[in-house]
Amino acid sequence: MSLDIQLLLALSDGNYHSGIELGNLTGVSRAAIWKQLQKLQELTGLEFESVKGRGYRLPGGIELLDKETVSIAISAAALSLLSEIELHRQVDSTNRQALSRAQAGAASGHVVLAEHQLAGKGRRGRSWVSPFGANLYLSLVWGFEGGAAALEGLSLVVGIAIVRALTELGVPGIGLKWPNDIYWQGKKLGGILLEMVGDASGHCQVVIGIGINVGMPRTLAAAIEQPWCDLREVCGQAISRNRLAGAILSHLLPILARFERDRFVAYREEWSELDCIAGKPVALHLGDRMLLGIAAGVGEIGELAIDTDQGREWFHGGEVSLRLQQ
Ligand code: BTN
Repeated sequence: MSLDIQLLLALSDGNYHSGIELGNLTGVSRAAIWKQLQKLQELTGLEFESVKGRGYRLPGGIELLDKETVSIAISAAALSLLSEIELHRQVDSTNRQALSRAQAGAASGHVVLAEHQLAGKGRRGRSWVSPFGANLYLSLVWGFEGGAAALEGLSLVVGIAIVRALTELGVPGIGLKWPNDIYWQGKKLGGILLEMVGDASGHCQVVIGIGINVGMPRTLAAAIEQPWCDLREVCGQAISRNRLAGAILSHLLPILARFERDRFVAYREEWSELDCIAGKPVALHLGDRMLLGIAAGVGEIGELAIDTDQGREWFHGGEVSLRLQQ
């Protein structure tokens, strides 16, 4: 175990630990401990405290991700569809890692999790704010036959799996904003990023990237471009990221197996109940064209209906960006 992880594990309880205790635990000098904590602070954004006579602590503590704890939280049905969980303390992007595993032939059900992303990717070339230990960053590899056409509506069913998982954990009132945002009371709680490798008309591997804000440090608020929230705000208390990862995989893996067979139409009714923009005025950006209208639900393959002055128009996920009109 690296020195960083040893220190983080020791300080994860939020209590004071003396330099002697940490030194004995890690086998390095007391002076080296504080230096290492300062480095760790720079790397992760976590704020350690050093108090004379008491030692060091991480105010509030931190629950680190742990493969075993995630696995225990996954249902038996989902475990049979899982091939591997890869856990990183720090990566560029879990999607990027999962894409390279997919290219190297990883099986469906290969999961990449990370505590920290240095280059987290959002949709449409945006970056995804991904501080250490604060949120969930999860990517999953899944193989599909039938190429890009077979993937219509996929991000919508991933959204359903996330809402089912959150509901199971007692998180109320979560909605979905087409095509792949997780919303609560008009604020973004999480997002889904799908990326594909392989044959656009035959066998392809999809990387399903999921980012959920769990306990975003308030100091990062300005870095996020749109109204957002985290689970701490939604629930009024901390939610375990290990349990959240387990619950999402428990719902996501079986949904993917079924989606391959039944397609989006089998989920259309459930999605419509979670649709948080239906009936609301929206602005759709198509390249440099903007279209105003009223969101009117989704069709059988997950395409969005917008009622405009010219009548009803239909849109597919890859081509547009959607904003609620203020
Ligand atoms: C969006 O823009 O709404 C999509 C955000 C997707 C973020 C997740 S975090 C895990 C995975 N790895 C990434 O680099 N991006 C996705």
